Amino acid sequence: MQADAAAIAAAKAELRSKLPNYTRVFDDMQHELAVEAAQIAVRYADGDPIVPSVSYDDILADKVPLESVAAIRRHGCVVIRGVFPREQAEEWDVELLSYVQSNNYTEKAKAKGHIDKYFSTLKSAKPQIYGIYWSRPQIQARQAESMELTREWLNRLWIWHKGDRQFFDPARNYAYADRIRQREPGDATLGLSPHMDGGSVERWIDPSFHHIYRHVFSGNWRDHNPWDGDGRTETREVPSPAVCSVFRTYQGWTALTEQGPGDGTLQLLPMTSAMSYMLLRALQDDVPDGELCGAAAGRALRMNEEYHAHLLRALVPVPKVQPGDTVWWHPDVVHAVEDENRGSGYSSVIYIGAVPDCAKNRAFLPRQKAAFLAGKSCPDFAAEDYEMDFAGRATEADLTAMGRRQMGFDPW
Ligand SMILES: [Fe+2]
Repeated sequence: MQADAAAIAAAKAELRSKLPNYTRVFDDMQHELAVEAAQIAVRYADGDPIVPSVSYDDILADKVPLESVAAIRRHGCVVIRGVFPREQAEEWDVELLSYVQSNNYTEKAKAKGHIDKYFSTLKSAKPQIYGIYWSRPQIQARQAESMELTREWLNRLWIWHKGDRQFFDPARNYAYADRIRQREPGDATLGLSPHMDGGSVERWIDPSFHHIYRHVFSGNWRDHNPWDGDGRTETREVPSPAVCSVFRTYQGWTALTEQGPGDGTLQLLPMTSAMSYMLLRALQDDVPDGELCGAAAGRALRMNEEYHAHLLRALVPVPKVQPGDTVWWHPDVVHAVEDENRGSGYSSVIYIGAVPDCAKNRAFLPRQKAAFLAGKSCPDFAAEDYEMDFAGRATEADLTAMGRRQMGFDPW
């Protein structure tokens, strides 16, 4: 797939030819979404957390209020509280800090000169996110039954089948070995500008994405359902060492420490319509032909003040969470990390998203399994391979029956 300026210009010309009134359609959309963003900002200022919270116990008891479900669908994000007991999460936190320190991660990272290239054009170039994938706490959290049930419940908020066509199986998830964040109090190096993962220029230039956003590109953007799984498991991304090659119904993390607004934690733009906005924004006449408002192959898709100011005002921090709570957001939801940890303690998380069974995700498992057995970095991330000689790393013996299915050792 070509993703240079000429390819971008050609794709834009084609999209415009199919939507000759792209300016009027966008103006309508901007008017409506700017109002929605402003309302979110006002509600937040009035004390409404915006990001809905659901308790894991309510999920187990099938008692989640319908209003909460509606809020999740509308805002594309949710805090699910109490997925793990506080004591369990705090134990993991201690073990992870020790795993990183006793194996001299920081010294090794400095010696290797590693910088996360994926985020290098974002405001801060050196995240306090560790290339750690196979610690025992991560394995235990991923394969926990409560985690699996949480993800199944979340997956079912998607349209996962239409008639005989099944896009994915909501009740079977795979492990996706993502990293950890351990952010020190006072740290001001990690801030991540508002961005979206899971594809940047490909959303405009590849037909597999055109199908997902067909109603947006045809001008009927109100008909676009961001929860429709049709086409989501068939996307093709521009190959890059830093682009997610599985389909995630949600990105997410599990809190190991208490953290809230100001503690250097996550911010979300709680509008699932933001992606539609970015798609049509890039077609407007003030954007140079070979550009997409800053989108570049192999980089996170950024939202910026120059082109997206109307929506950025809706960016809100996630509400305060406790150890064992989990945060989830739709793959099309813009997110950021606060510039500074002004809190008094670490803000630490294990990144765990939802990766349901489908051919695209199954295809990833053999490569990930090999990396696990060798202690190498997850194949979707930079090949830093820190953990190969780490003491205390998880092995196959640490996998439960659930863990074995999630990692592709046994069939689901
Ligand atoms: Fe991200």
